[in-house]
Amino acid sequence: MSTNSLLSQIPRNLAGKTVLITGASSGIGRSTAFEFSRTQPDINLILAARRIETVQEVAKEIEAESGGRTKVLALKLDVSDLAAVKRFWEVEVPREWKERGVDVLVNNAGGVRGLEHVGEIAEEDVATMIGVNVMGLIGLTQHVVRHFKNDRGGKGDIVNIGSIAGREPYAGGSIYCATKAAVRSFSDSLRRENISNQIRVIEIDPGQVETEFSVVRFRGDKAKADAVYAGCDPLGPEDIAGVIVFAVGQRQGVVLADSLIFPQHQAGAGAVYKRPA
Ligand SMILES: NC(=O)c1ccc[n+]([C@@H]2O[C@H](COP(=O)([O-])OP(=O)(O)OC[C@H]3O[C@@H](n4cnc5c(N)ncnc54)[C@H](OP(=O)(O)O)[C@@H]3O)[C@@H](O)[C@H]2O)c1
Repeated sequence: MSTNSLLSQIPRNLAGKTVLITGASSGIGRSTAFEFSRTQPDINLILAARRIETVQEVAKEIEAESGGRTKVLALKLDVSDLAAVKRFWEVEVPREWKERGVDVLVNNAGGVRGLEHVGEIAEEDVATMIGVNVMGLIGLTQHVVRHFKNDRGGKGDIVNIGSIAGREPYAGGSIYCATKAAVRSFSDSLRRENISNQIRVIEIDPGQVETEFSVVRFRGDKAKADAVYAGCDPLGPEDIAGVIVFAVGQRQGVVLADSLIFPQHQAGAGAVYKRPA
């Protein structure tokens, strides 16, 4: 019997895999790309987001840091555009990458717009949140699950980034909370559909993480975004990245189906302790 710790087996379990990460230009997606390469440099990464120059920069940094061991493909993708998702999967991912196959999809692209109450929410914001967080996530997953079933012998990992907001709705978050509840429900159905094969469905629900998330919510107003984190110690994107890599790095028979990650000062969507100013 091996006396190696299970943790020490994670790099070996990841060796040679190909991981596709959406929303890799920033925050949790960007950190996840680095964390995979730092845990196992002999890994292949497909990084996608709308800001292609930023993704290309991330790709260059990872390739340099890994001494060229990590192969990184940077591609432009707006997940809310389902025709673009189809084109991305069928045409833009090069043949050699397709033939090698994708082992892991990290559905991370997503975000929130505003804090308006129902009746005051711009239709465009409703469409954006549902389009990216729900339609986009489902759209890409359909292609990748088909690939797992048709080309990979019914094997592969889908990692869906949900949120505490999907478990605990709050005033001003109606649409965002609904989209993340949809992600959670989608993950649960997908997991049940795949218990007879080797497709693992992993849902990771972060609490408060300091990324561009709040800057996007407040439409670029950095002062408003900073105020969200004043007097508390939010998670960093690398904290969530570590959990994602830990989950994917488990041996095939282990599914880290569901996890909720808070910073110390948080115990719910509305339960956040702030130090007095
Ligand atoms: N930060 C938090 O407190 C928190 C808490 C719980 C859950 N989450 C979830 O964590 C995930 C990552 O968010 P984050 O905190 O890392 O925020 P972030 O720094 O704003 O990153 C969001 C990423 O999603 C990408 N994205 C947005 N719209 C997209 C689209 N239409 N097509 C493709 N990519 C798109 C962005 O890239 P481009 O702009 O370049 O396209 C960016 O790379 C999201 O699903 C979010 O809901 C965050």
